[in-house]
Amino acid sequence: MKIKSTGAPVDTTVPPYLLDNAGREAPARFGALSAMFDTGTIRHLEERGVARGWQCWEVGGGGGSIATWLARRVGLAGRVLATDIDPRFLETLKVPNLEVRRHDIVSDPLPEETFDLIHARLVLVHLPQWQKVLQRLISVLKPGGWLLDEEFDSESVPPEPSTSPGEVFLKTHEAMAQLMRDRGFDRYYGRLLFGRFRALGLTEVGAEARMFMMQSGSAGAALLRANYEQLRGALVDSGYVTEREFQDDLSRLDDSSFMMPSSMMWAAWGRRVST
Ligand SMILES: C[S@@+](CC[C@H](N)C(=O)[O-])C[C@H]1O[C@@H](n2cnc3c(N)ncnc32)[C@H](O)[C@@H]1O
Repeated sequence: MKIKSTGAPVDTTVPPYLLDNAGREAPARFGALSAMFDTGTIRHLEERGVARGWQCWEVGGGGGSIATWLARRVGLAGRVLATDIDPRFLETLKVPNLEVRRHDIVSDPLPEETFDLIHARLVLVHLPQWQKVLQRLISVLKPGGWLLDEEFDSESVPPEPSTSPGEVFLKTHEAMAQLMRDRGFDRYYGRLLFGRFRALGLTEVGAEARMFMMQSGSAGAALLRANYEQLRGALVDSGYVTEREFQDDLSRLDDSSFMMPSSMMWAAWGRRVST
């Protein structure tokens, strides 16, 4: 993974981002995330009141679907900054009021401007330094500006075949969960955001979650496939799943009987206190 040098010493205790954008599975992942979650994300953005002239920051913008929506929404009177440690997909976007920067939200200097709204989705869940990152984001909100963060809780509602016959928990999925725990991921992260936003002194704090039943041919199954395939080497090397079990699980994603509840996507929002 290529990260812009900040001149700071490299922190070798921090595991590298697992699903980096250089992987050939990244476009499939971003397409699936967009298909599954953009409608809900856009509703939350509209409910926060994003309008013409706003200055917005999309952190860890990935494939850029939300950055593009924001840029169109704020119009030429507004401006959107979209950042990512690997902005290769953001850089292909040609939107006049959208500025793209390579930027590590943990360690690179913050933008000098302040924002009416900052949005991130599935970024902080990957960062052991999330607390520092939340404080950094709040520090560049305008008074009254909104922080909207959306993150997975992948533990609270696992598949439950005894209650819902047919739901499966693939061995590969459990292997991926264990790999993430081993690397220090908090897989409940999304549901903790509400309390954390309150504790950080934000006002008008709210949170809502959404989840889907994933089936063969759906964006959910495409997301699972992209993530499993990108982690294939690490999953098999870890010994949590054999190559044979991995192959069988990939085939099950194409089975018309496949059903598995998705992670819960929590959206949490709050405003910086007006001065
Ligand atoms: C799971 S993807 C989500 C992408 C997009 N937000 C979405 O929901 O479709 C996580 C994104 O965060 C970026 N990322 C990971 N660590 C980052 C960091 N420290 N600073 C900025 N971006 C980061 C990754 O490169 C990737 O594009």
